[in-house]
This record gives sequence, structure tokens and C-alpha cells, in this order.
Amino acid sequence: MMRLLVVGREGQVARALAERGPTLGADVEFVGRPECDLTDPASVARAVMRGRADVVVNAAAYTAVDRAESEEALATAINGPGAGAVAAAAREIGAPVLHLSTDFVFDGLLDRPYRENDAPRPTNAYGRSKLVGEGSVAAANEAHVILRTAWVYSPFGANFVKTMLRLGETRAEVGVVADQCGSPTSALDIADALVAIAKRCAAVGKVEDLAGLYHMTGADEATWADFAEAIFELAQQHGRRPVTVRRITTADYPTVARRRANSRLDNAKLARVFGLGLPAWRESLQPVVSRLMAGVQA
Ligand SMILES: NC(=O)c1ccc[n+]([C@@H]2O[C@H](COP(=O)([O-])OP(=O)(O)OC[C@H]3O[C@@H](n4cnc5c(N)ncnc54)[C@H](OP(=O)(O)O)[C@@H]3O)[C@@H](O)[C@H]2O)c1
Repeated sequence: MMRLLVVGREGQVARALAERGPTLGADVEFVGRPECDLTDPASVARAVMRGRADVVVNAAAYTAVDRAESEEALATAINGPGAGAVAAAAREIGAPVLHLSTDFVFDGLLDRPYRENDAPRPTNAYGRSKLVGEGSVAAANEAHVILRTAWVYSPFGANFVKTMLRLGETRAEVGVVADQCGSPTSALDIADALVAIAKRCAAVGKVEDLAGLYHMTGADEATWADFAEAIFELAQQHGRRPVTVRRITTADYPTVARRRANSRLDNAKLARVFGLGLPAWRESLQPVVSRLMAGVQA
């Protein structure tokens, strides 16, 4: 059985891997804080090199987009050299590393979905820190697959779906931005794809041939307002009263870190090289809302 070592234990992607890995025939082991802290590269090396792994997955990151504006040094240490330390430790044990990055490496001004070879130009501290990480990972381990994703939700942790369901408990109307476009992505689908990619990497002699950057989001696009409407429609099917989505603009909803109009990522390379594509976001949203409404989230 393929052995996956996942750095990060409590995040959305890590918990999705814990749920999906065993059903997909992967033996998944986790390391995380405090014994494996990305601000302490020696702790990362110790934790990764103690385990036995065919493939290492980095599911740990500094992900507080707004807070990163006032903590850029910490965000950069974790998402840059911290991610590089995971990749280097994987190289030490002869394993490829799968790493997650973000659409925030782009400025969001392009009028089509971003491709892997479009020039990155982050507009906030989080995006800059993740871009540093892409470089650190690639430099530390030739056998790397870096997957940029976006708008991640799941039954776990904090995310947009859970926020909307919470707001819908007390409000009949919620204002949601309708001028930012992207693709909602289920962490459970990310987990399935990571296992498939890891299996392929473990099976091929030379991972370097597959190595590089890939875009991976749910299929089809949406605005945050479309996403919210779909969440409230599904919640209604579970007995919630209707909630109206008031379509607002980014200017109406100021945030500390700058948000961009276009978060869409072109997933064609992932399909071409790995034969993989994530399901349409509406399809994947339904079971997550059902779980959350049934209260079976952990
Ligand atoms: N969420 C999104 O919308 C989104 C979009 C695009 C890309 N991504 C990327 O996808 C990946 C997974 O995201 P996610 O949503 O699963 O993240 P998440 O739920 O915020 O989880 C992040 C994990 O990183 C761990 N972590 C943070 N700082 C650490 C450190 N110094 N040392 C060790 N572990 C540390 C956290 O540990 P604790 O539990 O100890 O706090 C947590 O388990 C990240 O690389 C993220 O940048 C996410």
C-alpha cells in the first residue's frame, strides 16, 4: 500500500486526506504542530525523516489572508522556507513532495482563467508568501508537484460554506460580493486528487517528468454570491428557511487584504498530464451541505 506522509493535521485538506486516504488504498500518516512546526525547519526534518513515506504532502500553511497583512514575516517564514523545509526533508528520504499553492499568486486582472505559465503578480502579503513557497519547494526537491487551488471548503475547519450556514441561522438576507469570480473547490475532491497524483508519482520511475506547477479547482465557475445562493438553496432542502443573497460589490465589502476580480484557474494541464479533473462545484457542494446540516462535521 502506498504510504503518504502528510504535514499538517488539523487543516481542511489534512482532515479530508484522513477521511479519504484509507478508502482509496493509501496508508496515511500525519505530522503537525507542535512536533513538526514549519517555523522550525529542524523539527520538520526530524518529523519527516522519522516516518516512512513513498510521497510527502504538505497540507500545512499560514492561511489567514487578512491577518497576513500585519504578519507578513511570519506568513512568509511558514509558507516560504517552511514549505521548502518540507520539500527538502522529502528529498532526503527520496520521496516526491506534493504542495498546495493558491490563485492569490495572480493579480486577478486577466479576463480568462489563469494558466500555469501566466506571470504571477501577487497583490497581498499572503499571495507573496505563497509565491515564495512555490520557489522554495521547487528549489529544494526536483520531484515536486505544486497544485494551485482556490476557494476551498469542506465539512472541516473554517470556510465560506460554514460561514454562510451560520449567518443563515439568524438572517433573512445576506450581502455577498458578486464581482469576484472563481471556482469553489471541495477539500474532499482535493484529497482524492492528491492520492491519485501520489500513486502516479510512486508508480513512475522518474517523477521529474511530471514535476511542476498545476492548477486544480472545482469545475465550473461562480461568483461568491452564486456560491452563497447555492448553499442557501441546498440548506432550504434540509428545512432551513430561505435566505436572500443581496449582490454587493467588492467596494461595498472592504477587507484588510486586497481581493481580486478573477480567481479562475485553467485546469487543462492537470487533465492532460494526470488525466484528472475535479467534479463540478455544485455536485461536490451538495454532500458537504448535507453533512453540515446533519451536524456530522467533526
Ligand atoms: N482555504 C483556501 O481557500 C485555500 C485556497 C487556495 C489554496 N489553499 C492552500 O491549500 C493548503 C491547505 O489549506 P487548508 O484550507 O487546508 O488550510 P487550513 O485549514 O487553514 O489549515 C492549515 C494547517 O496548517 C497548519 N499550520 C499553520 N502554521 C503551521 C506551522 N507553523 N507549522 C505547522 N503547521 C502549521 C495548521 O495547523 P494548526 O492546526 O496547528 O493551526 C493547519 O493544520 C494551503 O497550502 C493553502 O495555502 C487554500
